[in-house]
Amino acid sequence: MKYKQFPTDFLWGGSTSAYQFEGGWDAEGKGPSVQDVRKNIPKGTTDFKVASDHFNHWKEDVALMAEMGFKSYRFSISWSRVIPKGIGDVNKDGIKFYNNLIDELLKFKITPIITMFHFDLPAALDKDGGWLNPKIVDAFENYAKVLFENFGDRVKHWLTINEQNIMMLFGEIVGIDFGKSDNKLKAKYQVNHHMMLSQAKANILCHKMVKEGKIGPAPNINPAYPASTKPIDNTATFNLRIMRNFFFLDVAVFGRYHYLVLNYLEKQNSMFEIKEGEMDVLNDKLAKPDFIAFNYYASSTVAMPEKSFKEQKLTDQQVIRSLEGMYQQVPNDNLTKTQFGWEIDPIGFRNVLRELYDRYNLPLIITENGIGGHDKLIDGKVDDQYRIEYYKYHLKEMKVALNDGVEIMGYNPWSAIDLISTHEGSTKRYGFVFVNRDEFDLKDMSRHRKESFFWYKDVIKTNGKNL
Ligand code: BG6
Repeated sequence: MKYKQFPTDFLWGGSTSAYQFEGGWDAEGKGPSVQDVRKNIPKGTTDFKVASDHFNHWKEDVALMAEMGFKSYRFSISWSRVIPKGIGDVNKDGIKFYNNLIDELLKFKITPIITMFHFDLPAALDKDGGWLNPKIVDAFENYAKVLFENFGDRVKHWLTINEQNIMMLFGEIVGIDFGKSDNKLKAKYQVNHHMMLSQAKANILCHKMVKEGKIGPAPNINPAYPASTKPIDNTATFNLRIMRNFFFLDVAVFGRYHYLVLNYLEKQNSMFEIKEGEMDVLNDKLAKPDFIAFNYYASSTVAMPEKSFKEQKLTDQQVIRSLEGMYQQVPNDNLTKTQFGWEIDPIGFRNVLRELYDRYNLPLIITENGIGGHDKLIDGKVDDQYRIEYYKYHLKEMKVALNDGVEIMGYNPWSAIDLISTHEGSTKRYGFVFVNRDEFDLKDMSRHRKESFFWYKDVIKTNGKNL
């Protein structure tokens, strides 16, 4: 088959997030985030305080990205490094840190793609009710203004909130506590509404303040398959597809809350509050995203739950999820699994690219995709052939999607360099570059190119021609 090739300005790059990569948790005026003060630390690490010490290695890290040929680098800004209490005084040193990083990237012609929020709310805001407190919307808008004022002259690609859908549906696993509310379901959707408003206001501001600025959401999207040919499993698949994926993106793009979810919440006596004028904000023309960014790891296979069904823990993040009367995820025997039990589905990647483009007709950018494993440094080398295989299959399918006619702007896999996994600490590595630390011993933090580094470098150099 003769493939159409990737556009010459395709954004080949990699991703990280501040709390998993930066370290320097209290350096130079940074305030604590919820990740710095959380009690339920993942089992494979002491904490996120030093992480990969990018705070002290940023020049070396950018040089490695440049050596790989990165055209883009997607990273998040730590809100509490820039505004230590979330609202109020701006930390000049925090601004300086990101200015240096951005300038260094631009020196190598690497396009910065900035996530404004990636699981690390300033602890001071969390104490004040966090995302449940309606005041958060103004705080986020103010934070967005500070970012656009300081970095908008050079940064033209912005992402609002990383994996809002995962935070909202399964927040406990990323350190969000909905526990204090009497009506947990309502609280979750109220949090979501505040995030939607925050996102819309940030989008409006970006379009007003950043010349040629582009902004979009960055959810985690799974394609969903019915577990059988039973019509009722198809109904369950539709439920999951809406409740897990499209409910969130529909608000961003169409300014509407999907009827299926609203109806479900009404039936559960859990409808969240929408104040007067708020739907107008969500429908503001300037609030529309310019692209859809998304993270892709796996697909979901879905059945209608039996009455007797009980949730079981499968692996780490991949708990079998169910919602009574709506959907139940089941294992898919057609798929292989990662060392950590996540199902691997490259064709699902093509499926989801087509589905997203079909529904929203906006350009797509992949902000995460990748495989976590136990890498070992042996005689200065890290043989991560399994990672190369994973990427080969996924990139091939991305190219097929391109040939199906899907508009794709870039690919920024997880992760550029090793960092601390959300659920498994340093046991589970994702990077093209090995960072010499382990779970509980910080060692010397030296950086080592893995085999996948050289492979990806060649993919970028040839603009994906040989895939
Ligand atoms: C995504 C997150 O959900 O998945 C990342 O945006 C996370 O922060 C990644 O690290 C992989 O998950 P995990 O649990 O393996 O680190």
